[in-house]
Amino acid sequence: MAANLFYEPSTRTNLSFQTAMYRLGGSVIGFSDPGSSSVAKGESLKDTIAMMSNYADAIVIRNPMEGSAKAASLYSRVPVINAGDGGHLHPTQTLADLTTIRKHTGAIKGLNIGLCGDLMNGRTVHSLIKALTGFPDIRFYFISPRELKIPDYIRLYLEKNNQKYIEITSLEATIDNLDVLYMTRIQRERFGTESEYNNHKHAYILTKSKLSGARSSLLIMHPLPRVDEISVDVDDDPRALYFAQARYGMFMRMALMKTILKNPPREPERVDIGGAECKNPRCICKTEKYLPSLVYENNGARFCEFCDKLICV
Ligand code: NCD
Repeated sequence: MAANLFYEPSTRTNLSFQTAMYRLGGSVIGFSDPGSSSVAKGESLKDTIAMMSNYADAIVIRNPMEGSAKAASLYSRVPVINAGDGGHLHPTQTLADLTTIRKHTGAIKGLNIGLCGDLMNGRTVHSLIKALTGFPDIRFYFISPRELKIPDYIRLYLEKNNQKYIEITSLEATIDNLDVLYMTRIQRERFGTESEYNNHKHAYILTKSKLSGARSSLLIMHPLPRVDEISVDVDDDPRALYFAQARYGMFMRMALMKTILKNPPREPERVDIGGAECKNPRCICKTEKYLPSLVYENNGARFCEFCDKLICV
């Protein structure tokens, strides 16, 4: 039995986890509208998780605050799966993405991978970059508006791992070099104002004509939902894999659930050093005040364990 706790809208991820569980012969409880649960009465994340982990064998959580899944894991008796924590990470989408690349290239190595769109707020991109950095000879092309470049903690991660990357603003100038093009949506819900969003909303639109010089083996991917960043005339191109990608995601989630339910949950590590305050207003520690201040060090700098933002140098 899984508990799917979706505090943010979702179609694919929630239904994909549900389908995976039902296909394995299991069942699912939970909510997709926190307004219909005790969250609306002001229940803390800690209490909701403590309760749900009495009922279910695993918890799948999506929440708009960065670090929320990590926070939930501190209070859960059962494994917690991050189904998207704000603009931070989305690791199970990455497993779907890796499955897609692996299946269509044979091996994940020596690839030119272009990630295009809102690289600042797109959580799928952050998780995918971290995972791909572990594979040999990957070259990243980060294609985004200047204001929506990859966040600093991802930059530091790449540098620490000697991972090569190029940052550019033009999709057209890059597309012909790519083995994989991973398009993403401008993340409307992460902008402070509608006008900031409007400045970027049509930043990149992949059309059939832009693909004229692209490799015949190009993989065109997108975590979905798309708004207008891939025009519908691309859908019939044999290189367009985004709907297949969602299907691989379901099989991968079946495998993930089976693996997790077979292995007993591990006690989470806690390093409560106190006195180090995370300044990120989108961090879960800002709304769930009882959380310990968990910090890790990297190259002499300290980062928040929940949201990965720099705390101090
Ligand atoms: C993504 C997400 O929620 O981060 N969707 C998904 O889970 N497949 C991408 C997005 O919303 O743009």
